[in-house]
Amino acid sequence: MDRSLISAVAHRWHPVAAPVSDDSLRRLLTRLVPPGAREALDLGCGSGAWLLRLLEAATGCTGVGVDTSAPALDAARAEARRRGLTDRVAFVHGDAAAHTGEPVDVVLCVGATHAFGGFAGTLTAVRRHLRPGGRVLLGDAFWEHGPGPAALAALGAVPGELPDLAGLLAEVDEAGFEPGYGHLSTAAEWDEYEWCWTGAFTEWALTEAPADDRAAALELARTHRSQWLAGYRGQLGFLTAVLHDVR
Ligand SMILES: C[S@@+](CC[C@H](N)C(=O)[O-])C[C@H]1O[C@@H](n2cnc3c(N)ncnc32)[C@H](O)[C@@H]1O
Repeated sequence: MDRSLISAVAHRWHPVAAPVSDDSLRRLLTRLVPPGAREALDLGCGSGAWLLRLLEAATGCTGVGVDTSAPALDAARAEARRRGLTDRVAFVHGDAAAHTGEPVDVVLCVGATHAFGGFAGTLTAVRRHLRPGGRVLLGDAFWEHGPGPAALAALGAVPGELPDLAGLLAEVDEAGFEPGYGHLSTAAEWDEYEWCWTGAFTEWALTEAPADDRAAALELARTHRSQWLAGYRGQLGFLTAVLHDVR
């Protein structure tokens, strides 16, 4: 099955494609957007959950979201229409690493650092898009504990591929950014995110998937559930941080 379709279905119940609750999202955006912000850029915006909420809160701001997933961008555009935001937002189909444009006040990149070859590459890339005094919202995974062999196998990862939290923040420091605020996803946020992922996918498999895809879709949901429960649950962490450019 197509990866974009899998992600679009799996995030139907939890439009933020990261283990971040609605309350946490609101608090992070409050601390992210500087007074008078006029433009925001979301690299790897998915279905636009962060960017649309930001635009609702910062009414003088316009936004651009970039993503490679056509189904996610279709969902983002539909949601922008539903919320009456179409005149303040553009969703662009393309590689975030190749995106060009005038510098902006706020750059977001949550759960999409792989587009830039990892966390450090993302920090370098976001600076190119940032006005002096601008702020960044970066969300990425780290190892909270372990990782044990089951967690590594579940994610197809190798030891050292992800840092621990101190290592992640050392990369922030090295790149010349100062963390202004941060949110560490709680166990409850992880559980809600993963239950929504597997639940929405299971329901789609049973009620909407083409007959030929049904067995494979159900198996995919089961595999994901077991990779989470028997693999990385309690070991994988997620940091979403507001960063100030101090270079
Ligand atoms: C885990 S999702 C996060 C989506 C969104 N930031 C959120 O938190 O809801 C990762 C997103 O990155 C997108 N992506 C992956 N590689 C990309 C690239 N090279 N350029 C732009 N988007 C990319 C995927 O299509 C997906 O929508």
